[in-house]
Formats: sequence, structure tokens, C-alpha cells
Amino acid sequence: MHRKLFYPFLKGDNMATPAAEEIKNSKVEPLTRRKAWKALETHAGKMRETHLRTLFAGDPKRGERMTVEAAGLFLDYSKNRVTDETLRLLLQLAEESGLKQRIEAMFRGDKINVTEKRAVLHVALRAPRSASILVDGENVVPQVHEVLDKMAVFANRIRSGAWTGHSGKPIKNIVNIGIGGSDLGPVMAYEALRHFSNRDLTFRFVSNVDGTDFAEAVHDLAADETLFIVSSKTFTTLETMTNAHTAREWLLGKIGGHQSSVAKHFVAVSTNAAEVAKFGIDTANMFGFWDWVGGRYSMDSAIGLSTMIAIGPENFRKMLVGFHEMDEHFRTAPFEKNLPVLLGLLTVWYANFFDAQTVAILPYEQYLKRFPAYLQQLTMESNGKHVTLEGNPVDYTTCPIYWGEPGTNGQHSFYQLIHQGTRLISCDFLAFYRTVNKLGRHQDMLIANVFAQTEALAFGKTPEQVKAEGTPDWLVPHRVFEGNRPSNTILADELTPAMLGKLVALYEHSVFTQGTIWQVNSFDQWGVELGKALAQRIIPELENKTEPDLKHDSSTNNLIRRYRKFKE
Ligand code: F6P
Repeated sequence: MHRKLFYPFLKGDNMATPAAEEIKNSKVEPLTRRKAWKALETHAGKMRETHLRTLFAGDPKRGERMTVEAAGLFLDYSKNRVTDETLRLLLQLAEESGLKQRIEAMFRGDKINVTEKRAVLHVALRAPRSASILVDGENVVPQVHEVLDKMAVFANRIRSGAWTGHSGKPIKNIVNIGIGGSDLGPVMAYEALRHFSNRDLTFRFVSNVDGTDFAEAVHDLAADETLFIVSSKTFTTLETMTNAHTAREWLLGKIGGHQSSVAKHFVAVSTNAAEVAKFGIDTANMFGFWDWVGGRYSMDSAIGLSTMIAIGPENFRKMLVGFHEMDEHFRTAPFEKNLPVLLGLLTVWYANFFDAQTVAILPYEQYLKRFPAYLQQLTMESNGKHVTLEGNPVDYTTCPIYWGEPGTNGQHSFYQLIHQGTRLISCDFLAFYRTVNKLGRHQDMLIANVFAQTEALAFGKTPEQVKAEGTPDWLVPHRVFEGNRPSNTILADELTPAMLGKLVALYEHSVFTQGTIWQVNSFDQWGVELGKALAQRIIPELENKTEPDLKHDSSTNNLIRRYRKFKE
């Protein structure tokens, strides 16, 4: 049952808001009233009783058939609890949800971020120079390339030693200060592409307002060889601005320099030139982006400046080419062969029809160690929503919880729960045929573990098999693996800059697919506001010398009083 309108201002004549216009034109039925949804509900009843052992036994070619290869990525989705009928219905759900039209609207630059009245054009960040994408009648592609070119000049100056600090020494250390999308992408990309990075440079990333983060990041750095990149779309974020001010004090304290040396040791990445100038950074050293780039979709914008300095402009461009290749695949491939669409639909399948609470991201590639953390913001800040685009409360589950660790570490910690726990956790295994670090038998062992895990999860071990191994009866139940635990296996050549771009775009568009089905706005994040506002109120209550007049609930008041009492 779809509940009534939540926000009365969207009713009747007030339908002139952009959100309402968008929705009026979309002609999409509420999710639970769509034909495919209802059919999936019935179908899921049967599928919940069906074991992957049966599905594989009934179709010897299943493991070859249920695969898709595109843009250099191979997806084996055969170890999912799906049949051809499931896929037909999920694809029908995508059609009925207007996915095709939504994709076109995004690529066209429509203001699909209706609550912030913005276009959503991270795809423009990797469009080739010759492309044309209009926002409010203006082609944004030349602006994108202008910034990329400016970044390249700057990155080369740092890499070559031509850019010098206050004492005339070249820069050796790059510290990116940012949080959320202004941190997670840069950290993840730096770690992922470390092999391609300039090893003469040291990279650090400061995000947390916890002073330890800054203190530890700089404790062994020479200030006169350090460049801070203050990365913040808004240039008002509490954590980033606090760390940026601390960095300025640290720098000036160390080099005993005048404020003017700030210009040699600080650059900014932001959409807010006024605040950048106020901070004292020369806006000539500011790298801009635009309100149509969401923070969590910005690692390939100027927010990737640290990445570009690390891997060089040429590799950065290769990464953009990878992104673009996946964009084109998403935009043009039929849904049944479309990697992001399939991944997105499978996530919807488990979240909504199997009550799955989480998705595990399991990269068997050490360089991708921060990829699960990166995906947490991308997925959960995008689709962790409780109302539809119109503001109606949803009557179905939206975004699952994403988490994960690189293999094989997780196998020796939480995989126990995936194999024998009581929850259904769908897993994405990511692996590469080749590694840049060829050490003995490591790679074969690593990949053997990927295949072993997906096999064990899907097929498990029956009581009969356990008994046949001579296990005493009392121990048998403990050693049984039910199996029927779903997974995707994604294989690719090697983790290169282009491949990283493809992988990130794959998940960006999977998130888009899911958000479209759930009819939520995947591009706002109002849910982060309340805590931020309350923190602003509480900060002076912790710092005031005189006892504050507290007006919170009794728990919060008590915690504040206790902290004040013990903090010195
Ligand atoms: O608080 C959430 C958020 O707005 C994210 O969406 C964003 O990536 C992060 O904060 C950082 O914002 P900014 O780049 O403006 O500092």
C-alpha cells in the first residue's frame, strides 16, 4: 500500500516545484503498484525455496550463460538466486520504473536532483573534449577540460620540482585536507593506483576533526616541503575548515613565515571562490568544479588533484577514459547486457524480496583496500532515503548497508557469518587476472580463494557429505554449510587507472539504477544536516567558561555536563 502524500506543499496548485514537475512528467507508478513488482513478489516466494544446487544441476551451462562481458569487465552472476524468469521480471521492473528515460535525463543534463534543483553530470567530467553537454543552455564540457588542463600544468610543476615552497625547496609532501567525497575518492584512488604514483612524493590525507588525524599526518613532514590541498566543494565544512586553519597555523609556526607564504603551500579545490579567497588562498591556485557534481561523485573532478599529482596527468586522463567507457556502456547497452543495470537490479532483488540487510564488497586486490569505504558513501549517502522524489514515505526497503574488506583478510574474520550465520548477505567479489606485484605463487593463491569462496557460498556442504568424511554425528550440524548464499564475481585484466575508472563508474551507475527503481533522489543528502546543526550548537556549550544553560534532553544535558567536568 502506498501511503498518502507526506508533504502537503506538493499537492494541488503548488505542483509548480521542480520536483513536482519532474514527477508529473515521469508517469511512473509507485513502486509497489508496478506490475513487475507484484509479479516479483509472487515469483520470490518460489525462489526463496530454491537452492543454487538445483539451479546449477538443472542447467549445466548456467555458469557460462549467466555472464556478461563489457568494457573489459567480466561479470559472472550465475551464483545468484535467480532464474531467467527472475531476470525477465527485474528487467521489466527497470522498464516500468522509467530507467531508460532517467538515464537519458541524467546524460542530457536535466535537473534530476530535484530537491537541490541541480543537474547531475558527473558523466560530463569524463566526456571527451569534442562532446557537448548543456546545463542551462551552456556546454559544460569545455569548462571541464579547462580545469583538467590547469590541473595538469600544476601537477607537472609539482612533479618536476618547478613549484617551490617558501624556502625555495621543491614540494615533497602533499596533504589533502577534505572529508566525505572530498577525501574518500582521493584516498581510495591514491591507494588503488599507488603502483603508478610518483614514489618521490609523500601523500597524506586528513579528514577527521579529531586532532590526531592532522597531528599524525604531519608529524614527520618538513613544512617547507609540504603542500596542502584544501578540498571542499562548499569550503564551509566544519572538519575541513578546522583542519585547514590548523594546517595554516602549523605551517606558519614551522617556517616562521609571513601570511604571504600561505600561497606557496596551499591550494584549494572548491566551488566557492569567495570563501577560498577569505581563507587566504590565491584564487589563481584554486581548481574549480560545479554544483552539478555531487561530492561523492567528484573523484574525477578537480577533487582528484592529489590523484593527478600522484599518478601524473596522462594516467589521470586514462582513468577518465575508463570512466567514460563505462558511461557509454551504461547509456547504450541493452539492459540484459548492461553491467551496472544488472548489478543494481540484483541488489534490489535481495534487498526487497529476500530482506537482505547488507552487501559485502570483497576486493581480492590489496590496492583496492579503501574501495569498500569509498563505496559506503557512494551507495548509502545516495540511496539511504526514506521518502520518494515526491516526498512520500516509501513502503519498501531502500539502500542496504555496504561494507567489506580486501580478501583474504576477511576470510579469517567475518566470512564465518557469511557462510554459516543467519543472514543473507550478497557479496561482490572483485578480482584481477594479473597483478603488478608478481611474487611467487601469491596471485594464483589469491584467485583460488576467490573461486573457492564463491563455490563454498553457493553450494555449501550437506550433512551427508559431512558424515561421509567420518565426522561424528554430534559434530555434523556444526560442520554443515547450507550454501545458497549469493555472490557476483567481477573479473578484469589488471588494476590500471582506466580500470579503476570503469569500476567506479560501474558502481555509480548501479546506484543510479537502484535509486531509480526506489524512486528516491540519489543526489541529495539532507540526512547529514541535523547532526551538523546540533554539533554547532553544542560546541560553545562545551567550550564556554561559564556554565551553559542547557536545553537538550536529559541524556544530552548530562553528557555535556560530564564532559565539561572531566575534560581538563
Ligand atoms: O556531510 C556530507 C557532505 O556534504 C558530503 O556529501 C560531502 O562529500 C562532504 O560532506 C564534504 O563536503 P565538502 O566537499 O563541501 O567539504
